[in-house]
Amino acid sequence: MYATGVTPPKGVWWKPAHGSEKVWFTIAFVWCLILFAMMPIWHMRGGQNPSGIRAKVDPEAFRARVARFIQDYQIGTDNGLPLVAPPPGSDVYLQGAMWSWTPVLQLEQGAEYTLHLSSVDMNHGFNLYPFNINFQVVPGYDYGLRVTPTEAGDFRIVCNEFCGVGHHLMVGKVIVVPPGTTATAAPSAGTPVTAPTSASAARTEAIPAAQGGAP
Ligand code: CUA
Repeated sequence: MYATGVTPPKGVWWKPAHGSEKVWFTIAFVWCLILFAMMPIWHMRGGQNPSGIRAKVDPEAFRARVARFIQDYQIGTDNGLPLVAPPPGSDVYLQGAMWSWTPVLQLEQGAEYTLHLSSVDMNHGFNLYPFNINFQVVPGYDYGLRVTPTEAGDFRIVCNEFCGVGHHLMVGKVIVVPPGTTATAAPSAGTPVTAPTSASAARTEAIPAAQGGAP
């Protein structure tokens, strides 16, 4: 039989819902509530937030701070870039510039560092490969992250913010060595270019962690 606007098709939609439909509706609704609650819970407990250390910094001052950091803790070179091994617990400076990350960092597994990220020219993106860890690197701002490498190995910093024709070449390196490898060097004579804020107490991010999957 034809169904038209005048003679509607025979259907079942006016019959009351089956009991199982109510069950599924309830399950879906409860699941919505759980997901909704996960947003604030994950914000507070998920260990995924930045450390809240940030300050304005003049790009040239940051460049100078990186230079002093290299001077203080350089132990060699890696592919033409300075290889720097800061002592555990220290402030670590990483400069993004078209199109390199300076210096190459050698960090110790299990040690906590405060990693300062900034750019001296334009926006870059800090992505620690192969982990799904991403931060903006913005000129004029020192962005501090408390990091504790949990896995030894050789990791890459990939720029994930388009920054010109050399963007795809902007790859840096972090080497994580077993504990006790780094010589305890004398602390830097100078003061950090920006002091870590004590507010927003330490939330520790793990740099490479078992939890990290491929991006
Ligand atoms: Cu730096 Cu893309």
